[in-house]
Amino acid sequence: MAILNLKTTHKPIKLYYQSLKKFQQLNAVNEGAVKVAFADLLTACCQQFNWMLVQEKSIPLTKKKLIRVDGLLVRNDTLKHGIWEAKDTEDDLAKEVQKKFKQGYPKDNIIFQSPERVIIWQGGKQVYDGEITKPEVLVESLKLFFEDRPPQIENWEKAATEFGERVNNLGEKLVDLIHSQRKTNKKFIAAFDGFSNICRLSINPNISDAAVEEMLIQHLLTERIFRQIFDNPDFTRRNIIAVEIEKVINALTSKSFSRNHFLEEVDYFYLALEEAAKTIKEYSEKQHFLNTVYEKFFQGFAVKVADTHGIVYTPQSIVDFMVKSVDEILKKEFKKSLSHKGVHILDPFVGTGNFLMRIMREIKKTSLPNKYKDELHCNEVMLLPYYIASMNIEHEYLEATGKYEPFAGICLVDTFSVQEALQLDLFTPENTQRVQRQQNSDIFVVIGNPPYNMGQVNENDNNKNRKYEEVDRRVAQTYSKGSKATNKNKLSDPYVKAFRWAADRIKDEGIVAFVTNSSFIDNIAFDGMRQYLAQDFDAIYVLDLGGNVRTNPKLSGTTHNVFGIQVGVSINLLIKKKEGKKSQCQIYYGNVDEFWRKEEKYAYLEKCQHLGGVDWQEIKPDKKNTWLTAGLQADFETFIPMGTKETKAAKGKVTDTIFKLFSNGVNTSRDVWAYNFNPDELAANIQETIATYNEQVRKWQHRQDKSVKVDDFVTYDDTKISWSESLKKYLKQGIIVEYDQNHIRQSLYRPFTKSRLYFDIYLNERCYQFPYIFPTSETEKENRVICVTNHTQIPFLVQITDLIPSLDVGGRQTQCFPFYTYDEDGNNRQENITDWSLDTFRQEYQDSTIAKWDIFYYIYALLHHPTYREKYADNLKRELPRIPYAPDFHGFANAGKRLAEIHINYEQQPEYPLTFIENEEVPLNWRVEKMKLSKDKTQLVYNEFLTLADIPPKVFEYRLGNRSALDWISDRYQVKIDKRSDIENDPNRLDDEQYIVRLIGQVITVSLETVDIVNGLPPLD
Ligand SMILES: C[S@@+](CC[C@H](N)C(=O)[O-])C[C@H]1O[C@@H](n2cnc3c(N)ncnc32)[C@H](O)[C@@H]1O
Repeated sequence: MAILNLKTTHKPIKLYYQSLKKFQQLNAVNEGAVKVAFADLLTACCQQFNWMLVQEKSIPLTKKKLIRVDGLLVRNDTLKHGIWEAKDTEDDLAKEVQKKFKQGYPKDNIIFQSPERVIIWQGGKQVYDGEITKPEVLVESLKLFFEDRPPQIENWEKAATEFGERVNNLGEKLVDLIHSQRKTNKKFIAAFDGFSNICRLSINPNISDAAVEEMLIQHLLTERIFRQIFDNPDFTRRNIIAVEIEKVINALTSKSFSRNHFLEEVDYFYLALEEAAKTIKEYSEKQHFLNTVYEKFFQGFAVKVADTHGIVYTPQSIVDFMVKSVDEILKKEFKKSLSHKGVHILDPFVGTGNFLMRIMREIKKTSLPNKYKDELHCNEVMLLPYYIASMNIEHEYLEATGKYEPFAGICLVDTFSVQEALQLDLFTPENTQRVQRQQNSDIFVVIGNPPYNMGQVNENDNNKNRKYEEVDRRVAQTYSKGSKATNKNKLSDPYVKAFRWAADRIKDEGIVAFVTNSSFIDNIAFDGMRQYLAQDFDAIYVLDLGGNVRTNPKLSGTTHNVFGIQVGVSINLLIKKKEGKKSQCQIYYGNVDEFWRKEEKYAYLEKCQHLGGVDWQEIKPDKKNTWLTAGLQADFETFIPMGTKETKAAKGKVTDTIFKLFSNGVNTSRDVWAYNFNPDELAANIQETIATYNEQVRKWQHRQDKSVKVDDFVTYDDTKISWSESLKKYLKQGIIVEYDQNHIRQSLYRPFTKSRLYFDIYLNERCYQFPYIFPTSETEKENRVICVTNHTQIPFLVQITDLIPSLDVGGRQTQCFPFYTYDEDGNNRQENITDWSLDTFRQEYQDSTIAKWDIFYYIYALLHHPTYREKYADNLKRELPRIPYAPDFHGFANAGKRLAEIHINYEQQPEYPLTFIENEEVPLNWRVEKMKLSKDKTQLVYNEFLTLADIPPKVFEYRLGNRSALDWISDRYQVKIDKRSDIENDPNRLDDEQYIVRLIGQVITVSLETVDIVNGLPPLD
């Protein structure tokens, strides 16, 4: 049972009485004034459950009669929890209650309140009457009101949670059944193969058998809900896709499988659902069940699909705001409306159908039949949401017109492949026709919530985002081509494709309204996308709803993000005009308080109603297509870049940058396998993975079924191998990999953390330029690399090394600027600082003694300068450092040289004299499992035996990103066992037991000296 955690001493209760007192002092005792205090109290209580208090809400009693209540408590976006009616001090509350009931107010969970008294009715009876001038009475009454649950609903909530937990198990059983029947049941084999072919032609040529099986399971587990709960007994006969699937299921049913018998196991769930549904009259409330099934099914059974397809429900206030905004734009900019004939509207990612349903409510009833027949369109690629959306939309039409009409505007198709798929049969002739009809329609509005995800984190998950010929080509030609960023991986996110696709789909005029990941607004990789959006559209409105937990770790996804996710979200309205075009796109930006809870963000959207209610600021993008330019310093542009993409790619002598070449750190894509503190462990692990890989190559070459895809062929045994895209490519090419002891190299894995690396072009996904920077161990004796980490999520950091650095050596992707480069065999050493920059520095300082090493160290010191870091913090989040001329060149160069010396040779520095506190009860022990800093950071608990005390606070002033050097080592020097592979990475050294304790003392010395040097740097200007 849900419990309201409320006591008389809690803040909301205290605030309530304080506000009432203030109102009394001001003599403001009328209902309007005092009810604010109670509304605040209810809102505070709502937050415990993620509910909403909707004030001044109209509720239909019958088709013709509406009542307007002071407040409606809404759960899960649609379910009504209870009603609040406020009265002022002068009213006789009991009389007022009777008056309301005469008007037809419901007698179920309704709270009538005046400043002195509350009366509560539940289940047709008065259950409470109390004097709320006493705080304990107030608390008691609120608990009663909030904790009320009709038993059926309570059962349903329990059953839904259980369903989420058990659906996986049940699904697996169905998978087993399908597998066994695919071996023995001839009728089913034929039906399944026929159906898989249809799916390959219609949805995705690469669709796996597992995905087809998943569709059958989606159908089996949910069709009863449609039949029973939504009184749609003919659903499986009426829905053009369900008819097809029933045929396959019937083939399955024919032998040894009784559908009803099998589903008995979840009977409790269906029964609970059916009972709960009986208590609810309004369809819109029943929809809550569908939304729950939608999310629960995928999150429980098909987690991978939930990830790649973005299975999340769009909150109603976002849908309302977007639909109203589109209507407003149609009126203002195009002298049309959603009801207007000829305004074709498409939701390409329909999910449960909530955008189209809301649009139907906005359309005039007289226009609806024609719009419904011809001008409303949507697509969905997954079966379950396709069913849900069909039913929802058809029901919405029934409610509005009193007639059932099948909705022919919905297509079961992949939006991004519609064009490519047009030549094919799409499931059924009728679905094909629908897709063709949609394709021939002049779409004016594209609206919806596209999926967003960055693709799989681990290739072993075999859960890649699908690739599409046409839309991927368009993204490459435009958003990617226009980008100056070095890493453009983020452009493969489906939401980026969705923008590209929609901008092309509306042709020369129309509106795109999407709620998406907001990273395109200011992330560097999206500069080309911003450029093209501004080129393709005449006006763009971006309402930033915040909620990016990675850039603001103080936020919580569940509390502050409107979708309960970790990435920021924005509502984007884009307008393209044929007539009255402005020469330049007008871009408007609005945002909400980052720290608002999601309910506050929803309430804000409701208050605004549409884009007209938002306080927009016009954005003037800079030359680099940066939209949010606040905080950027213009003079940064005037400094010399450390490196640019253009000079890096250029042949021969280059000008205008300090370094010719720079490189990402090494990206192994399998750090657990390719790195280890212990070289013997590393050798054993990597040999294991090479053996597994080679065995797979041979198997692949001798496979019988040549049509099978690599993704579906290879073993995904996490304890033997971790795949990556390139490794699969090498497998296809038949490359056999040989282990080479010489490839085990020392590397810098994180700040002050050395680790062995298996440095190899096959087993590292990308070595980038490191085969030319540290081709041999010999080169480590002379070459040095400045590594800069400039990322939106953490403060800028710089380190220097004479070893191969990892991709994330600074905690995030890092770019490395070497002093020398070589040929791959270690010969032909070249200086990487350009002659041009040597001349420029010599001229600037009128000093011909300046050498390239001086410039190298000058830069290293300058990148530590506190004023530089503070003043250019925002620039440094966006682009590689640029280097100004400080007045005292040699002051910086000398400081930089010393910094480099202690940062590279940190293991040779003296140990800081820490106090060793020994635990007398345990034997001497130098082994570390996991160290821990004390709260006041003066002590480091090294292990049970030893605590290192008297750490000087100044140590923590030397920061590398969001950690100090000491934090880095206490975090990295711990024994870790990787969950997937079971590989252990143990930093303890048998041959040098005291290495870690010594390292701590040395890194403290290094930190203290660094702080002194940095504080003593000459001024910047
Ligand atoms: C974020 S959800 C839509 C939410 C919807 N507005 C709602 O509240 O129910 C995205 C939906 O798009 C579907 N989808 C994802 N990729 C698709 C594609 N390429 N073509 C068509 N539908 C797709 C997913 O299956 C999912 O149901």
